[in-house]
Amino acid sequence: MKKTNLQRRKLLKYAGIGIAGAVTYPSWTQAASELVRVNRPSADFLPDVEIELTMNTADVAVLQGEKTHIWKITGKVIKGPSGVLDNNEGTYLAPTLSFKKGQKVRLILNNNLPAQSILHWHGLHVPANMDGNPMYAIDRGETYVYEFEILNRAGTYFYHSHTHSVTARQVYSGLAGLLIVSDDQEQALNLPNGDFDVPLVIQDRSFDDQNQLVYSAHMMQRMQGFLGDQILVNGKPNFVLPVATRAYRLRLVNGSNSRIYKLAWDDGTPLTVIGVDGGLLESPEQHAYVMLSPGERVEVWMDFSGRAVGNELTMRSLQFDTSAHGAMGMMGGGHRGMMGGGMMGGRHRGMMGGGMMGGGMMSVSALPSGSDYPLLKIRVAKKEQGNNTLPKILTPITALHVKNAANAANPRTIALSMEHMSALLNGRSYKMDDVQPDEIIPVNSLQLIEFDNGFGGGMHGMMNMPHPMHLHGEQFQIVKREISSGSSDNYATVASGFVNSGWKDTVLVMPGEKVTILKPFNDFKGLFMYHCHNLEHEDMGMMRDFLIN
Ligand code: C2O
Ligand code: CU
Ligand code: CU
Repeated sequence: MKKTNLQRRKLLKYAGIGIAGAVTYPSWTQAASELVRVNRPSADFLPDVEIELTMNTADVAVLQGEKTHIWKITGKVIKGPSGVLDNNEGTYLAPTLSFKKGQKVRLILNNNLPAQSILHWHGLHVPANMDGNPMYAIDRGETYVYEFEILNRAGTYFYHSHTHSVTARQVYSGLAGLLIVSDDQEQALNLPNGDFDVPLVIQDRSFDDQNQLVYSAHMMQRMQGFLGDQILVNGKPNFVLPVATRAYRLRLVNGSNSRIYKLAWDDGTPLTVIGVDGGLLESPEQHAYVMLSPGERVEVWMDFSGRAVGNELTMRSLQFDTSAHGAMGMMGGGHRGMMGGGMMGGRHRGMMGGGMMGGGMMSVSALPSGSDYPLLKIRVAKKEQGNNTLPKILTPITALHVKNAANAANPRTIALSMEHMSALLNGRSYKMDDVQPDEIIPVNSLQLIEFDNGFGGGMHGMMNMPHPMHLHGEQFQIVKREISSGSSDNYATVASGFVNSGWKDTVLVMPGEKVTILKPFNDFKGLFMYHCHNLEHEDMGMMRDFLIN
């Protein structure tokens, strides 16, 4: 087969590393981690849930008229409780998988696509060879068998394609879906559930006049990240959620390739945040708006009980500026005075598409990043009594302490940069089988890591962009954010929208900013990725592997 198989073989040396001396993991994990590509179920793994997931091409009605050609994942439950799978039929969204903490899950992935692919379980703490690293990509006609225990706490996770250099395209075509985990602690809180617990996957797409998806990855778009012309929620345009006059739990997921949202209710009601990437916060937090970058999730509690039937409420993405200094501001729809804001939109695509001006890049979307636009509408549809009290305490979170980090005095710095038409981490681009000495991390250690996006003076004016940084494996905690003085004006347009508490797996690092995190690397040895979740940046190489050893 192809070149990647050679690379895979070389990676045997990493894959062969067994599980760490962890006490709590049964022997099946050890056996599984010694295989490279796992294509058959293991006999000693007894799943509570077994689902077959098949990736195929399909046509679904996204817009009025002509159907849209997409890539669809369809699931079939072989074993498991009812409600474990929702195929989201009629949309391009992959099935929603609903698991409980402690369940042993077997997912049999069949690839019927005309391309290589592999799925990654974003936010889950699973063994390295169950994590969907690009080196495990399977060809058409092949199968990958995932077997793991759900170790994560309750939360809104998701999964998506992680195929080398084509992740952006594959996710855009439909290879992404929700993975919801619940646990007893969360259930005991009696939060809104069933119909009143609503996941909202926000994505942007562009369609041609035959209703077909348009994806272009010219250099300009890759540098900025692809921006679609319209917003889809749960795979649907002009999304309206009919609600009853009671409290809801809304799980917002940014499943977009590169678009960053500044979420707010249009009537000025603050957002009551109850959870982030890795589940519920310790206690609810109010924010006038919340920044949500690709890969991030935020759970919002909202009480509609004071509202009259017929009432409407819109969730918008508000205006913000992403540039640090001068030149690149225009990319994000900022610097309106100079460029005339909306002028950069789709109306002038022919003229401006992909063009460079004055060292800056033009947004080629009709919906420039950082502009103000509606995301979804809520319509109060009926009267209904519900439990509308939000607990003051949600779930306890064990705080991590810098002093307990293995490298407390010597943080691992990851410098984010875009230069010479490439996106780099510590000056490096992604390569399989390329772990450098400073990318080896001892297993069962707590690590202090800082993402430096030009804070330390590394900004040369040319390409300063926000980067949503994501790490595979266990969830982390945010220790602090620091912003360089020259960046504070634009930063003020986003600053109070960061939810820095709770467990995270993706964190937005603004231009001129340094974000410090504490991340545990427990239980599993092997390769775990860290990368920018702007999927075009990721595909350009803004991605590396840590070797946990
Ligand atoms: Cu959601 Cu490695 O990605
Ligand atoms: Cu991930
Ligand atoms: Cu990036």
